[in-house]
Amino acid sequence: MAKSRIIASLDIGSSKIRTVVGVQDAHASVPNIIGVGIAPSTGLRKGAVIDVEETINSISASLEDAERMAGEPINHVFLGIGGNNIESINSKGVIAVSQAENEISEDDVDRVLEAAQAVTIPSNRRILRIIPKTFTVDEQKGIKYPVGMTGIRLEVETHIITGFEPVIKNIEKCVLQSGVDIDDVIPSCLAPAESVLSKRQKELGVVVVDVGCGGTAISVFEDGATLYTAVIPVGGENVTNDVAIGMRTSIDTAEKIKIEYGSVIPEDVSERETIDLSLISKIDTHVISKKKLVEIIEARYHEIFILVKDELAKIHRDGMLPAGVILTGAASKIPGAIDLARETLNLPAQIGFPQNYDGVVDKIDDPAYATAIGLLIWGSRYEGRHHGGFKGASLKKGLSGMKNWLKHLFP
Ligand SMILES: Nc1ncnc2c1ncn2[C@@H]1O[C@H](COP(=O)(O)OP(=O)(O)OP(=O)(O)O)[C@@H](O)[C@H]1O
Ligand SMILES: [Mg+2]
Repeated sequence: MAKSRIIASLDIGSSKIRTVVGVQDAHASVPNIIGVGIAPSTGLRKGAVIDVEETINSISASLEDAERMAGEPINHVFLGIGGNNIESINSKGVIAVSQAENEISEDDVDRVLEAAQAVTIPSNRRILRIIPKTFTVDEQKGIKYPVGMTGIRLEVETHIITGFEPVIKNIEKCVLQSGVDIDDVIPSCLAPAESVLSKRQKELGVVVVDVGCGGTAISVFEDGATLYTAVIPVGGENVTNDVAIGMRTSIDTAEKIKIEYGSVIPEDVSERETIDLSLISKIDTHVISKKKLVEIIEARYHEIFILVKDELAKIHRDGMLPAGVILTGAASKIPGAIDLARETLNLPAQIGFPQNYDGVVDKIDDPAYATAIGLLIWGSRYEGRHHGGFKGASLKKGLSGMKNWLKHLFP
């Protein structure tokens, strides 16, 4: 009989490495979170390892922090990988249904998903997810889950997410060397949606925009399924850099003033308001205009939302998603982000606080934890396939993972 099991997720971000530990009871629909850990992500740049030792130290610190709170050792994790190395493409596959009675089986679904991968994906890219968007059985379109239906020809439209193999390998290596095995590697752009969206929002049409440090990950859902994902290489780090250049301060001071005094509503700030940097820094001691600071920050956030709008235009959903835009990631906490997103994207907007879990750990009621908790929720639905390391993920492994997932992707 299945019992409860400890599951954990590791969100390797470009500024923070977050760990979440939970207990998944066999009868519970959501995981019970018992611990979280956080550590600065010092050995990575834009999602890629640049210093192996530093990365291992950061990962270990995050894991230990979570283990302390949970009072349980972490032996394996669901690993979320983001950054510019993640790319996605759409692809179609077609097969003839194999059974004598033409009843579509799980094997047929595997085969059609395999056929969808016939597109040329460079050998140095690893397929991380093959997301079936919709199936067509003979002429009948818009089928969510075709197993058990009767037909001769099965067609699928997929969204394939790939990662740059050398980057993923190096991250995996660092994780394994931190003393934990990897249950699965998940593109982190898919994760926040798992924790912040309701089934209804996914049905109606919605975009999750995770504004992180090195980048902004977007995922679009419609009719209950993933329609599109993309990673935009602009995030909170760019805002900080702009502030440092515009205000002539160090990066550290720029980060501090952004978080302490920043917003994206220059109209709310008077021309006369100033900030005396000597109050928060020993290096930077001049006085700056708060209005100028806020204008600089607003300009970069506006650019980020314009880039999101461009991505939505690519799939003809610009201003067209009834459940609107849900903002996650720590950088979405800048005051005024909701209004700016609403105006720029011409969509209803709100901040995405993690839900879909049990437990009373309080610091996770925060959009910055949406990805890590989403990874844990992903893991909680993953049916006991811990296999001691996900090295050199083969197509078959990817597909067997997919099988469990198909049922969840298509409610
Ligand atoms: N209260 C705040 N207001 C505005 N920005 C903030 C706030 N707190 C953190 N940030 C910014 O959020 C960014 C970090 O976001 P987050 O922790 O979600 O990134 P990450 O997951 O480490 O990186 P990524 O997802 O890009 O790999 C930093 O640029 C930081 O300056
Ligand atoms: Mg992140």
